[in-house]
Amino acid sequence: MVGLYLHIPFCKQACTYCDFYFSTNLTTKSALVKAIAKEIEIRYKYLNFNKLTSIYFGGGTPSLLSKTEFETIFESINKHFIYDNGSEITIETNPDDITKENLILWKKLNINRLSIGLQSFNDEELKWMNRAHNAIQSVNSVKMAQDAGFENITIDLIYGSKFQDLKTWESTLLQTVSLNTQHISSYNLTIENKTVLGIQHAKGKEPSINDELSSKQFLMLTDILTQNNFIHYEISNFGKPGFFAKHNSNYWLQKHYLGVGPSAHSFNGVSRQWNIKNNNAYIKAIENNTDYFEKEQLSVKDRFNEYILTRLRTIWGCDVNEIKLLFGEEIQKHFLNIAQEKKNDLEETNGAYTLTTTAKLYADGIASDFFMD
Ligand SMILES: C[S@@+](CC[C@H](N)C(=O)[O-])C[C@H]1O[C@@H](n2cnc3c(N)ncnc32)[C@H](O)[C@@H]1O
Ligand code: SF4
Repeated sequence: MVGLYLHIPFCKQACTYCDFYFSTNLTTKSALVKAIAKEIEIRYKYLNFNKLTSIYFGGGTPSLLSKTEFETIFESINKHFIYDNGSEITIETNPDDITKENLILWKKLNINRLSIGLQSFNDEELKWMNRAHNAIQSVNSVKMAQDAGFENITIDLIYGSKFQDLKTWESTLLQTVSLNTQHISSYNLTIENKTVLGIQHAKGKEPSINDELSSKQFLMLTDILTQNNFIHYEISNFGKPGFFAKHNSNYWLQKHYLGVGPSAHSFNGVSRQWNIKNNNAYIKAIENNTDYFEKEQLSVKDRFNEYILTRLRTIWGCDVNEIKLLFGEEIQKHFLNIAQEKKNDLEETNGAYTLTTTAKLYADGIASDFFMD
């Protein structure tokens, strides 16, 4: 179970809330793609296996890549890795990039999973987010992808903004369900400091998130989606049976992955690496063979803390036997002591501890109570 993540750090325009690493200056796109192809060449041995279970084009907006740019990247992947029909190949797309031509191209490249960033069905909200599409385009983009034969589609939605009350959120969810996709990811809006939204918020021009309302929206999200054949397998992720995201599940299950491109992270069981967040510096460093990443060797406690943080968010939970096997008896004892203190927030089945639905609202806080320093 190993994955390859490729970060494509370009967007047509900057969404007001987003602090992922991207640039709206597309002039370096083809140089950056060449650098990514070269990084694969340099770093493919970071993973102990060369058979990939998943390839994930994230960003940024990978749907901005041209045919030639995709081919450059796949040429490098195909030279160093093997994968087959069972491997999941995802690209993140924006609805305005879903055209007949692109859909044909992505099919030809054997991309078998599309993640479509709808975010909202409210045109006023989409404008406020500075998205490059409206609600009709969003709905059409999903239908076009389905008509083109994509049978594994996931949708991104955001809740918690000043535009959503419980009624509008309910209708958003029902509309989403009616699109009949296999997977939905839904995130609570976070106001990030350096974004347009963050700056406006600091000036008092945008309201804070109403936590009480977003909690109710989260509970409504879980209710409506689980009633409609989606399994809630990670706090923000819902999949129909057989359609959990393989690539992201790898992150949550501590499997190994190589991340290439600016800002991409990698993990091989003992260390974590993260690339610089600067397109020009990244391209130069790859060309000149100089450093472009930082590296952290993980101690047993670091690995335990990460295990708790990721696993508690999932349907698989934290397994006491696995904890003993991975981290030893002392750490297992520590885990069981805290689990006893937190018993009202946890459910236990055959030694696996998961959060109750209400406790999912405070997942990070509960996880930090388990952390060791
Ligand atoms: C990095 S984006 C890439 C996908 C694609 N470019 C798009 O915009 O649809 C991945 C997802 O993160 C979510 N996201 C980004 N910033 C967020 C924020 N501040 N609060 C909540 N969700 C956010 C959005 O739902 C977005 O679709
Ligand atoms: S949400 Fe997507 S399109 Fe918008 S800025 Fe972030 S990465 Fe780019």
